[in-house]
Amino acid sequence: MGPGRPGAGQSALVTGASMGIGVDLAECLARDGYDLILAARSEAALNAVAGRLSAAHGVKAAVFAVDLGEHGGGTRLAQAVSAAGLKVDVLVNNAGFGKAGVFAGSEIGPQLGMIDLDVRALVELTHIYWPEMLAQNRGGVLNVASMAAFVPGPLMAVYYASKAFVLSFSEALWEEARGTGVHVSCLGPGATKSKFRERAGTGSTRLGQTAVVMESMPVAEAGYAGLRNNQRVVITGKGNHRTVRMVPFLPRTVVLKMVRNIQSPASTGK
Ligand SMILES: NC(=O)c1ccc[n+]([C@@H]2O[C@H](COP(=O)([O-])OP(=O)(O)OC[C@H]3O[C@@H](n4cnc5c(N)ncnc54)[C@H](OP(=O)(O)O)[C@@H]3O)[C@@H](O)[C@H]2O)c1
Repeated sequence: MGPGRPGAGQSALVTGASMGIGVDLAECLARDGYDLILAARSEAALNAVAGRLSAAHGVKAAVFAVDLGEHGGGTRLAQAVSAAGLKVDVLVNNAGFGKAGVFAGSEIGPQLGMIDLDVRALVELTHIYWPEMLAQNRGGVLNVASMAAFVPGPLMAVYYASKAFVLSFSEALWEEARGTGVHVSCLGPGATKSKFRERAGTGSTRLGQTAVVMESMPVAEAGYAGLRNNQRVVITGKGNHRTVRMVPFLPRTVVLKMVRNIQSPASTGK
């Protein structure tokens, strides 16, 4: 816990830090000495995370309760962070949610909500902090996508498409930052233990019933290591690596059938 830690004197903003992968990403950063700026909607949970991590790792931790799904939520968060006299050296865009189900007849609110949180807020926050990172030739952005980013997702179409956006956007910024010292990584977790699947309603799908579910800490550690190494894309789990390597060689119609199959209810023969 000395001043020699790589994050000493720097701050990291982690969105979705009240539970799940975001808590463990925040812990990885705190271990390396980064002061934490933690954002999500659940203030009490954020305070508990902040208290635990600052005591365990000797860093400062500030909490901002914010709904990043509201338009302008990212800007309001950045204004509050700035008003508190805090700067952001590393941005971790982790907050996100998914909603499973057939698109026809679905409620439009959650469909647009995924775009607002998983895409819009991520772009908004990155747009705010990116120029300063480039001007200083240091810092970085870790965007949390998903294995869903690599394929279209019948029966969870908007979520898969939102994560494809995150992957594409992140890779493009990685290239734009080449040679500047600013790091960009896109983390693509597969099924990971958290509240995500409960909120997404994927528990009864074939994927939900059969997927190998990773603990969130190894997923976060892989993502953080990727950011430190400026690794463009970080995949967690051997099976997921194999899938990502295989997908480009398969006909798209086969990929679509495969994804539809794993997103179907486990109990039906469809
Ligand atoms: N778990 C998986 O299987 C899995 C797989 C692939 C990708 N991912 C991705 O990993 C990321 C983290 O998910 P997780 O698995 O840790 O899920 P989680 O346990 O549900 O955590 C999601 C986090 O996002 C925050 N959040 C949700 N809506 C928000 C809003 N409107 N404004 C601000 N914060 C909001 C939540 O906090 P509040 O509810 O307190 O706001 C929470 O801290 C997501 O981007 C997800 O898409 C997860």
